[in-house]
Amino acid sequence: MNNCYYHIPELDTDKIRKYFLEEFIPKKGLTFSNDKTDLYGYTYSSNKSQTVNELNDLLMKEFKLPAIAYFIVFFHTPNATQAIHTDGDDIVAYSSLNLVLTNPKNSFMKFYTGEYEKEVKDMGSGYKSSYINWKTEPKILEEFEATDKFTLVNPEIPHQVITKEHPRITVCFRLFGNPKFKSLVEKLEINRLRQHP
Ligand SMILES: [Fe+2]
Repeated sequence: MNNCYYHIPELDTDKIRKYFLEEFIPKKGLTFSNDKTDLYGYTYSSNKSQTVNELNDLLMKEFKLPAIAYFIVFFHTPNATQAIHTDGDDIVAYSSLNLVLTNPKNSFMKFYTGEYEKEVKDMGSGYKSSYINWKTEPKILEEFEATDKFTLVNPEIPHQVITKEHPRITVCFRLFGNPKFKSLVEKLEINRLRQHP
């Protein structure tokens, strides 16, 4: 296991993908703009969507994870290389449950290590990230190609999304209490053993 990402193929994605692509995004009028990355953040409220409620219940009951606190929808244009950053400002985001809604082929997330200083920047929608000013040449720690299933990622490690020919829309669910990546992986592993002893 690595400390950067953890695939969750056992979590079904069909309904949630359909909901975001066919209902949520068109209704809110979310779209690609001229920027390479656009993002839209929403507080999760249980009276708003039955589909997200069902995901929330499944995460809590089946997977024993904390409830959903909020989610962010990211739009990355094709051939975009996002600046290397960590999520959040002084309050770092320690975990994110991500689902790529569009064609995941040739879309990558890369994680880096090295010596650096952080610089807080507004990414739009009042959402802040910390950009990385490297003091040493960054080295790739891990990378993975997007899949059509959920992946838990560790956004406190410097990272970037790189897209090739396809535009990418990702929904990122953040859980209550800002749980650490490792604690969620432990819960998911326990659940896996429970299902397939
Ligand atoms: Fe990020």
